[in-house]
Amino acid sequence: MFVCMCMAVTESEIRACMRAGARTVAEVSERSLAGTGCGGCLETVELIVQGGGLGGATSAVCGYSLSSSV
Ligand code: FES
Repeated sequence: MFVCMCMAVTESEIRACMRAGARTVAEVSERSLAGTGCGGCLETVELIVQGGGLGGATSAVCGYSLSSSV
């Protein structure tokens, strides 16, 4: 499911960024580009970051390797 339509970033990609170490909206935005267009998705990105769930992620947009220990 797309969270950021401007940059075509999915919830799974955001969660992958979190698994790769992103802990804030700014870090998720920097790594995934979510929220760097119109900014309309930032509230949703923040909800995902605050929720912290880590299920079902891929690593396509982060540029960081995922650790299975996280
Ligand atoms: S919908 Fe995410 S920046 Fe526009």
